[in-house]
Amino acid sequence: MLSKNIYEKKAHNVFQKISYCYDFMNDIITLGVHRLWKKDLIKNIPMESKKILDVCCGTGDISIGMGKKIKSSQIKALDFSDGMLEVAKKKANRSNLKNIEFINGSALFIPFKDNTFDTVTISLGIRNTSDYKKVLEEINRVLIPGGKFFCMEASYPDPLLLRKILKFYCKHLVPIMGKILVKLQTEYRWLDESVEDFLSKEELTALIKKTKFKDVTLKTYLFGSCTLHCGIKGGKDGN
Ligand SMILES: C[S@@+](CC[C@H](N)C(=O)[O-])C[C@H]1O[C@@H](n2cnc3c(N)ncnc32)[C@H](O)[C@@H]1O
Repeated sequence: MLSKNIYEKKAHNVFQKISYCYDFMNDIITLGVHRLWKKDLIKNIPMESKKILDVCCGTGDISIGMGKKIKSSQIKALDFSDGMLEVAKKKANRSNLKNIEFINGSALFIPFKDNTFDTVTISLGIRNTSDYKKVLEEINRVLIPGGKFFCMEASYPDPLLLRKILKFYCKHLVPIMGKILVKLQTEYRWLDESVEDFLSKEELTALIKKTKFKDVTLKTYLFGSCTLHCGIKGGKDGN
């Protein structure tokens, strides 16, 4: 296992390198299914959300979806990769959205005061960080009591055969696709490694609950290939 600093640097390098082709490759690798998962996450965001933070926003699919859905919201979109943020900014400009601010910063040290946001999202991001517990603590800190948290993440599916097929696909075929299509084989090996090394959905549920979120729910997509955890920050007014 890599040390936290080395892991952070590796993750940062990977996303800097793949930023220009991240959306294209996501569509190819998932056959566009990631768009359906993200749509469902955005559908779950409460219309009354006013101050929203999207952690590990990447190329901005979730921030932009929320910005379009709730025009009156103020969205801060945080990521540590300039490359990913540049792509996100261009996409937001094309959609003529003025309610999103893109910020370069770390999910491990979220650059906002305690009790700032009523809604926080993190989509396909937490497994790429070096300290899941710290990220969850930071998200809890910046949410107001009663604020809502949404965490979408990829995982390997539950049925054994499907799990084996998908593991083979991610471990062997995705890096080849990365090599042929965008000349980035090593970077696309990361997908399998990061999903393999990540927590099971039960472990993630337990960690979210341990980080003082209440009413934690779990929804799975495509036999467990993707999970959506929702939780509420407890505390003074949030009980
Ligand atoms: C797989 S992408 C997900 C992007 C987007 N949320 C989505 O759903 O498509 C993961 C993102 O997390 C960012 N990231 C990883 N570790 C981070 C950290 N410690 N702080 C901030 N951003 C981080 C990467 O730069 C990358 O843009």
